[in-house]
Amino acid sequence: MERREFIKKSCLTCAGLSLSTALMQSCSSAYVVMGSIEDNRIALKKSEFFYLKKEKPMIREWVLVKTEKIPLPIGVYRFDDNKYAATYLECAHQQCEVEPEGDHLQCPCHGSEYSNTGKLQKGPAEADLKSFSLTTDEENIYILLK
Ligand code: FES
Repeated sequence: MERREFIKKSCLTCAGLSLSTALMQSCSSAYVVMGSIEDNRIALKKSEFFYLKKEKPMIREWVLVKTEKIPLPIGVYRFDDNKYAATYLECAHQQCEVEPEGDHLQCPCHGSEYSNTGKLQKGPAEADLKSFSLTTDEENIYILLK
């Protein structure tokens, strides 16, 4: 292989790796919606958990809800159409923002792990995440703040 051809192939391989890394990052990034607080609750449409991938219907496990009044997002986990869990994504250790990682939550700062309902599974944190009660109707999930 000539030097010029080798360099050309190497660059194409690097470009391919960079692209696949970017795609993997975008695939793993959480889906975020903006919510508003009314009557001490936040309404989230159940339809936010559904999307199309190459025209195939897919279901998200997590939707993160941000509001202007609450500093960190609330993570809403979908078990099924009528069962959800809502957790405030502030680590109980030193208040970093925890992130969905598959079906659990992980703190990027020092590695604490929590279940999808916010139960502590691994320290250094020593307490569960704050969780919220929920109600649902046909269309919406309501996160109750009090
Ligand atoms: Fe989350 Fe330390 S802040 S483990």
